[in-house]
Amino acid sequence: MDSIDRRKSVRNYKSRFLDADTISEILHILDEEQVGPSGRRMKFEFIAENLDQNTRKIVTYGFLRGRYGAIVAWVNEEKYAYIDYGYLLEKIALRLVDIGIGTCWLGGSFSKQSIIEAMEMDKSFEKTIPAILAVGYEEEGRSVRDLIISKTKRKRKDFNDFFFTGALTEIEEEFQKEILEGVRWAPSAMNRQPVRVIWDEHRVHFYLVDVSTSLRYLDMGVAMRHFEERALEHGIKGKWVVDEQATLTNWVYLYTFVVES
Ligand SMILES: Cc1cc2nc3c(=O)[nH]c(=O)nc-3n(C[C@H](O)[C@H](O)[C@H](O)COP(=O)(O)O)c2cc1C
Repeated sequence: MDSIDRRKSVRNYKSRFLDADTISEILHILDEEQVGPSGRRMKFEFIAENLDQNTRKIVTYGFLRGRYGAIVAWVNEEKYAYIDYGYLLEKIALRLVDIGIGTCWLGGSFSKQSIIEAMEMDKSFEKTIPAILAVGYEEEGRSVRDLIISKTKRKRKDFNDFFFTGALTEIEEEFQKEILEGVRWAPSAMNRQPVRVIWDEHRVHFYLVDVSTSLRYLDMGVAMRHFEERALEHGIKGKWVVDEQATLTNWVYLYTFVVES
């Protein structure tokens, strides 16, 4: 089981906040250079929850329970920047799963104002915070809210609804299936699962079926990260390009992973 298999949205956290060692591990991860598929650099920041209930730094309208911090960065309101954000923050999320920390993406259920006030970084030119990643120790036993949400949400569409060969037929290759299964289980806002993939020989094209909200571009980045992570586990490396030759479909084309080894 890799971190993709172990990951799930954690909405019920322990009442014990992250200890100093864990926070320093998180800061260490955030210190690494973060460069997205577009070549953009992003600097993520950790916000520790203020333990006083009356002056909460991270307001999540009751969606999360217990004590948790958040990881955020400023980004321009631009689709490729959002994809980078999804890709880079999911990379961090998977690293946190590896060290036993629960996470939950929040794209809507948080107060931007409370986050902005808590942030330390220069706010002069970057534009927005599209989503946050809540982080904390998972509480054993799930909350009623979590059970309700996961009952309807921790499900995925069928493999063959998402992934196709260059000839638009079903994927047969076992290693491709294993890699794409990692994409299938990627988290997405409201579990909409908007990403579609066409694997055409050495080129793997990524599309969105729906771009009605900018959250979908985050979902795209998250899915791309899952793809790259699983591909690496299979010894497959490559790079992300925007490919003029990508197969035309009714979906919105965004990126291609060109396999290099
Ligand atoms: C970009 C993004 C935004 C999300 N926003 C929220 C949110 O506002 N509130 C929430 O409870 N879950 C949110 N989620 C978590 C999804 O609901 C969750 O990933 C999905 O239901 C699948 O469940 P799983 O993560 O446990 O596999 C978000 C996920 C992503 C990727």
